[in-house]
Amino acid sequence: MKNSEALLRIEDLVVNYGSINALNGVNISVDRGEIVAILGANGAGKTTTLRSVSGLLPAKSGFIYFKGEDITKVPAHKIVSLGMSHAPEGRRVFKTLTVEENLFLGAFTKKNVDMERLKWIYELFPRLEERRKQLAGTLSGGEQQMLAIGRALMSKPDLLLLDEPSLGLAPLLVKAIFKTIKEISQAGVTVLLVEQNAKAALRLANRGYVLEVGEIVFSGTSKELLESEKIQEAYLGKKAKADIH
Ligand SMILES: Nc1ncnc2c1ncn2[C@@H]1O[C@H](COP(=O)(O)OP(=O)(O)OP(=O)(O)O)[C@@H](O)[C@H]1O
Ligand SMILES: [Mg+2]
Repeated sequence: MKNSEALLRIEDLVVNYGSINALNGVNISVDRGEIVAILGANGAGKTTTLRSVSGLLPAKSGFIYFKGEDITKVPAHKIVSLGMSHAPEGRRVFKTLTVEENLFLGAFTKKNVDMERLKWIYELFPRLEERRKQLAGTLSGGEQQMLAIGRALMSKPDLLLLDEPSLGLAPLLVKAIFKTIKEISQAGVTVLLVEQNAKAALRLANRGYVLEVGEIVFSGTSKELLESEKIQEAYLGKKAKADIH
């Protein structure tokens, strides 16, 4: 990989579900070391973008480059072994397996489970270590979210895709999960983050993109997005000044 090259580059990506167009020419790039946020309303195409990048959905057209390599048609398990992993929306843990078994499965691309890595994940999420023998299906929603992120980290990714890590969590846990994402980033993992919680995501991220019905309508540094009146009105919960006639 050349130094000038982005770690991930999405170019003119078009994805359809049958006759439904979900992404209509999306361009996103992520450099090594960055945290990049994708914001957007329900149905904008955020999950579709992540699923397509990680090889779970085929592109109708466009390209996805990872470490300079064209991965547009590479299957999902190979993409994991190239150094990308995805903590999906809605957690998707294996409910009838224990916490630790779920974590081991996250390392399926490796010959042996790296116990140092497991130790690090337990340091990030001490709750998971306490519950390591417990069935994942009996964990609370927040704990399942931690497990989904922990499992994604077991394959030692250079790029971690996170789909709504704060969804459904109590405010205190939201804070904790964002703090942990920062720690993961500081450990050298690049993060592409999808979030409805726009303010918290932008406080954490270096840059952000705004998706609206399958198209990027705005991109910039987090500061630019936080200061943009249009973004404030649409995503940050600040009401437009009332029109008084
Ligand atoms: N399996 C599917 N079949 C048909 N249409 C789908 C499918 N999955 C998603 N879509 C449609 O594609 C569009 C984008 O969906 P996507 O899940 O990517 O949105 P999102 O931005 O992640 O939304 P949310 O914030 O609600 O998670 C939506 O209009 C959705 O209805
Ligand atoms: Mg989604």
